[in-house]
Amino acid sequence: MQTWNDETRHGQVTRALHWAIAALIAVLIPLGLIGRDPVNSAAMDTRLAVLSAHKTLGLLLLVLGVVRLLLHAVQKRPLLPSRNPFAQLGAEMAQGLLLVLTVLIPVSGLFIHGAPTSAAPLWLGLDRLLPLPETQPLALQLALRLHPLLNWLLWAVLAGHVAAALWHGARRDGVMAGITRGTPRPGHARRYTRLLPVTAVISALTLTLGVAGQIGILRDVSAPMQPEIAMPRSEWQVQDGTIGLVITQFGQPIQGRFARFRADIRFDPEVFHGLAGQATIRIDTNTLDLGALTAQALGPDFLDTQRHPEALFEADLLRVADGYAAVGLLTLKGVQRRVSLPFQLTRTGQTARAEGTLVLDRRQFDIAPGLDQPGQLGFEVRVRVSLTATRRDG
Ligand code: HEM
Ligand code: HEM
Repeated sequence: MQTWNDETRHGQVTRALHWAIAALIAVLIPLGLIGRDPVNSAAMDTRLAVLSAHKTLGLLLLVLGVVRLLLHAVQKRPLLPSRNPFAQLGAEMAQGLLLVLTVLIPVSGLFIHGAPTSAAPLWLGLDRLLPLPETQPLALQLALRLHPLLNWLLWAVLAGHVAAALWHGARRDGVMAGITRGTPRPGHARRYTRLLPVTAVISALTLTLGVAGQIGILRDVSAPMQPEIAMPRSEWQVQDGTIGLVITQFGQPIQGRFARFRADIRFDPEVFHGLAGQATIRIDTNTLDLGALTAQALGPDFLDTQRHPEALFEADLLRVADGYAAVGLLTLKGVQRRVSLPFQLTRTGQTARAEGTLVLDRRQFDIAPGLDQPGQLGFEVRVRVSLTATRRDG
């Protein structure tokens, strides 16, 4: 076993770093995608835990990536297995890009993490040990775009790298065994000085950024947009509001409302992208007033309020392109469904007013299943929510 590289072999250190980094990347990509996604994944706590894992392992990868880059600069490298100048340059470029990206991607991640709204902390109290400077808004916007962009470049280069490795593996020419077991492998004199692959790597990165700039990915970087998942910092007290509904009976709209409900809202109005808070709304279904239809509506065939006295909506409050959406689980008549309630927000000082309409299909909640003709009782039920809330001090 040989610790360091020579002209025919990858040493133990190179191989250990190669596979440790490959394994970390395989874990980091799904963690990043799950941690980022505000709509499809489960509860916020889980998402933040996933993002914490992503960031901490990403930081470990950064340390390994820097060590590897430095070692590359000082260690001998085995001579290249192919005589073909294009194959040589291709391999050099791909490996060079991989080395650089395993440093640049986590650095852009650290910039995202340094934002004041960053919620998911690093493991092991590392935030206290490594106090990062606060990321400025412009740097944050850039980092938020670069992190996925450089990831795409990484995936593209990796696809080529792994395909080339498999090709060598199939030919059993010793190249694959060289990186797995450290056996000597064929090598030919390099045709290039280091300068050429380094220049090629820089050009490839510049080209990627240029193309990204052209197709608009880096454009409105200065637009006010907040990053990442922000921890809801504020608590809101509902001052007044209504939760009303509109049903259609024999083609006529009929309006009703629930007299009693409770809302627990955590919301950060400064978040301009992604998760801005959470809300839990509990509605006392027995307090429905639907005029002449009230008694029927509370009965077993409809809301069955004796058995289900409460309707519950637990939602993430998301900032979307044209306003907000409360996305989450609605439990009504014991049936749970994922729904999305788009709403608009108007703010005056510490007071905010949210208004939105949720359109439900009553059949999904087992309401009046016997009435299967929409002419009789429309399938669509519009729930109108209007809440005015004030931010509690402290
Ligand atoms: C299934 C995954 C992978 C396979 C099969 C694979 C295969 C190989 C092989 C066969 C070599 C030796 C090339 C030679 O001897 O000239 C190599 C080297 C290299 N690979 Fe990979 N690789 C994988 C994943 C990765 C990943 C994820 C990265 C980095 C992000 C990476 C970066 C490198 C670099 C920089 C080298 C040059 C030697 C070194 O410093 O480690 N590889 N790889
Ligand atoms: C090579 C290492 C890393 C890889 C391959 C990686 C990969 C990814 C991927 C695929 C995503 C989802 C796509 C997106 O960017 O929105 C993501 C998101 C994210 N990553 Fe990383 N990451 C790495 C390192 C880090 C580090 C070190 C940090 C912070 C300390 C970090 C913080 C984040 C954050 C905060 C998000 C969510 C971004 C958002 O909400 O838009 N990443 N990462």
